Amino acid sequence: MTLHYDPELLDQLHELAVSAALEAAQMVLAGRREGVTVAETKTSASDVVTLMDRRSEALLVDRILTARPDDGILGEEGASHVGETGIRWVLDPIDGTVNYLYGLPEWAVSVAAEIDGLTVVGVVAAPALGETYVAVRGRGAKLHDIDGVHALYVNNPVELSAALVATGFGYTVERRTSQARVVEQVLPRVRDIRRGGACSVDLCSLAAGRVDAYYERGPHAWDLAAGGLVAHEAGARLEGLRGVPAGEEMILAAGQHLFGPLHDLLARLDAASG
Ligand code: IPD
Repeated sequence: MTLHYDPELLDQLHELAVSAALEAAQMVLAGRREGVTVAETKTSASDVVTLMDRRSEALLVDRILTARPDDGILGEEGASHVGETGIRWVLDPIDGTVNYLYGLPEWAVSVAAEIDGLTVVGVVAAPALGETYVAVRGRGAKLHDIDGVHALYVNNPVELSAALVATGFGYTVERRTSQARVVEQVLPRVRDIRRGGACSVDLCSLAAGRVDAYYERGPHAWDLAAGGLVAHEAGARLEGLRGVPAGEEMILAAGQHLFGPLHDLLARLDAASG
């Protein structure tokens, strides 16, 4: 079924998502040069929140609600606003917070807009990489960098044994222990594994053909929303295991050809790990 959205509404959401994400990303980048303060830890000692996570989310919420006061909002750092328009913004003020803390460049401000639960606009602004990824449902995915604007397409076809596979790990000991068991079995069957440290950037790397697949158990809606649309618009198939939609239980994203073999391997390992 093809859904049709008002093109003017999509343009408005697109413009607002890009301007809010870029403004927040520049503020967060400038803040990094002045040093990083850890404000609190969440699910474990490695799950940190910096002051910039909070300031970035506050800025995004302010820009969005100033422009569109009746929309809903869900943000990683607690922003939660029930809207009346059917439009909800899903925000990760800094995805890849640990990279940000250490001065590694793979982190991003991730802004997505949903209409009736379906993501229609996604912006992943990664200023330390000099890259902004933008997707609008039905209009493709693009990378904006110093060289201009580039249309994105996933690698396809790719054989499992030749696949460069990105993944990520959660923050709790239990989650990491089971993820380590799975990755131990995936690694000998693929070209190699990458752990970039920011789910949204991993999904954009898939869209840009820099990796061939991405999988992870546990990322939240704010990690997945914008980057997921970028990957989808670049031709990726995104799902969980056994036909379940992609979500916290599992996200697997790859080109059409690779998806099946990688899915079957992960489903087998998942069943074996109980
Ligand atoms: C994390 C990153 C990481 C992924 C974790 C996420 P955060 O988000 O995206 O790559 O492996 O599952 O929680 O905490 O940096 O916003």
